[in-house]
Amino acid sequence: MKSNVDLSETSAHTWAQLIYYGGPWPDPAGIDPLAEFVKVCATTDVQPGKMKMVQLGTEKVCLSNVNGKYHAIGDVCTHVGGPLSQGLLTDRTVTCPWHGSQFDVATGEVKRGPARMPEPVYEVKVEGTSVLVKSAK
Ligand code: FES
Repeated sequence: MKSNVDLSETSAHTWAQLIYYGGPWPDPAGIDPLAEFVKVCATTDVQPGKMKMVQLGTEKVCLSNVNGKYHAIGDVCTHVGGPLSQGLLTDRTVTCPWHGSQFDVATGEVKRGPARMPEPVYEVKVEGTSVLVKSAK
């Protein structure tokens, strides 16, 4: 039986997904083991002491700049979903604008509740004037 799907233009990444998952379906956990760094913004978009929500696929990420070093954790508060990037950044601590939970922007750890679960942490790197973020593992 002949397939009507043309795979001649399939990329190496897609072939790897086909082999890894046995099909072209997304990982049920939402994590791509073959994820690569993705440019999310320019370095000038997030000044020291500031935060910005950036989109990494379907994930909302809170990108922060602490004294020139960039950090990325989940933007959706693990309490009940507040937007962390709209909160207050003090040194390495972000305070959720909804109920005041605090998280370490470098480790994702909860520093003060009511949240109990840490935020996912994303790898960040700077290339030239670009900030790149990699999916959480
Ligand atoms: S939603 Fe962030 S502390 Fe409640």
